Amino acid sequence: MNVLLLGSGGREHAIAWKLSQSSMLRSLHIAPGNGGMESLGTVADLNVMDFAAVERYVRRQKIGLMIVGAEAPLVAGIADYFEASTKTNILVVGPKKAGAMLEGSKEFAKAFMQRHNIPTARYVSFDHSQLNEAIAALDTFQPPYVIKADGLAAGKGVIITKSKAEATKTLRDMLSGLAFQEAGKKVVIEEFLSGRELSMFAVTDGSSYHLLPSAKDYKQIGEGDTGANTGGMGAISPVPFLTEEFQEKALNQVIIPTIKGLSKDGIPFSGVLFFGLIRVGSDPYVIEYNCRLGDPETEVILPRIKSDLLHLFESLCSGLLSEYDLVTDERAAATVILASDGYPDSYEKGNEIKGLNDVGGIDGHVFHAGTKQSRKKLYTNGGRVLALTGRGADVEEAVKNSYRLAEKVGFEGAYCRKDIGADVLDLA
Ligand code: AMP
Ligand code: GLY
Repeated sequence: MNVLLLGSGGREHAIAWKLSQSSMLRSLHIAPGNGGMESLGTVADLNVMDFAAVERYVRRQKIGLMIVGAEAPLVAGIADYFEASTKTNILVVGPKKAGAMLEGSKEFAKAFMQRHNIPTARYVSFDHSQLNEAIAALDTFQPPYVIKADGLAAGKGVIITKSKAEATKTLRDMLSGLAFQEAGKKVVIEEFLSGRELSMFAVTDGSSYHLLPSAKDYKQIGEGDTGANTGGMGAISPVPFLTEEFQEKALNQVIIPTIKGLSKDGIPFSGVLFFGLIRVGSDPYVIEYNCRLGDPETEVILPRIKSDLLHLFESLCSGLLSEYDLVTDERAAATVILASDGYPDSYEKGNEIKGLNDVGGIDGHVFHAGTKQSRKKLYTNGGRVLALTGRGADVEEAVKNSYRLAEKVGFEGAYCRKDIGADVLDLA
């Protein structure tokens, strides 16, 4: 089968790496890809938001299955576009717009959860004509105030503050369009929940599902979970505090009700449901839904899947998901993101990456994110540059191997958090 993977991050490098091991794969195409993917397939310079250009490529290369890595094309309707297309007949891994709204609109997701009794923080929502009502509503919540831009904001659209003055300013900036443009012109204000966060993933066709390994990611730039939110600075899998009892609760109170809720609402869903959960006491609450795999969670999840990923996706798209046998690996994985100095604000690009040939003998994988190849050399080309995934018998050993990789690989201005996994190791 000829496969096209859309995306360019560490998540897509990990997906490409895993797909390349499939006996069902004839050719792999990645668009727009990054500097680390050229050994795994054909890297095509396509704008993934230009669906007609993607369609032309699909026809030319006789692509049979397309995997959409990131949320933006899904929320913009890429799966709907290909379903309606009379020129191609490809299988698409990723939901249509209606299902992608679980990620594309926080208000939609909150109303969905309320409708289907799925535990989540109490909330209210306002649009740009309701600034005064939104400010007044702050008084119905205890600080810290949690304010979310309704639309997509690359993981940065959530402001949490103890200061009412800052919360008020945030509401003004978002609702006026100053912050996050259209995405902020509607907001959700919600109750602050306190607990440990983790991510769970279900591959689902809207009726059957398979749970993938769970992960915990580290969103903030600074050690001890301080500073600005980023796309993710590291991740571990499995999650030591995810007990069997908690998993049962997550399944019965969140995951199954979500899949049934979609079906009751008449919303088809074929792809990956990502549950951003928080454990409050011993109970799961949903912080957010996403409609695709996580980044950097994928860089620790996929190495822990033994079975054929392309077979999983093909089963998903052809109604055979329940017959697929998902085999996971007990061994742990951890990933540490090597970022450019300055990220998530401004940073340099174009610094040479060194040491990639010196990692032999370390149990792990180097996944590329913001990298670019030029004349056989690799250069930094983004904020998050590399995901250094270590493996091991347990999380502790996996984390050690990630940091061993970080000692070998580097570039000028490379930054990584030194505490990935540290908060959970005492629980392991
Ligand atoms: P989101 O983009 O909705 O996942 O939010 C980003 C981050 O903000 C989450 O990973 C949490 O750490 C934090 N957060 C979001 N909502 C809440 C909440 N209701 N209570 C506490 N923390 C939250
Ligand atoms: N790591 C969080 C995300 O992918 O949204």
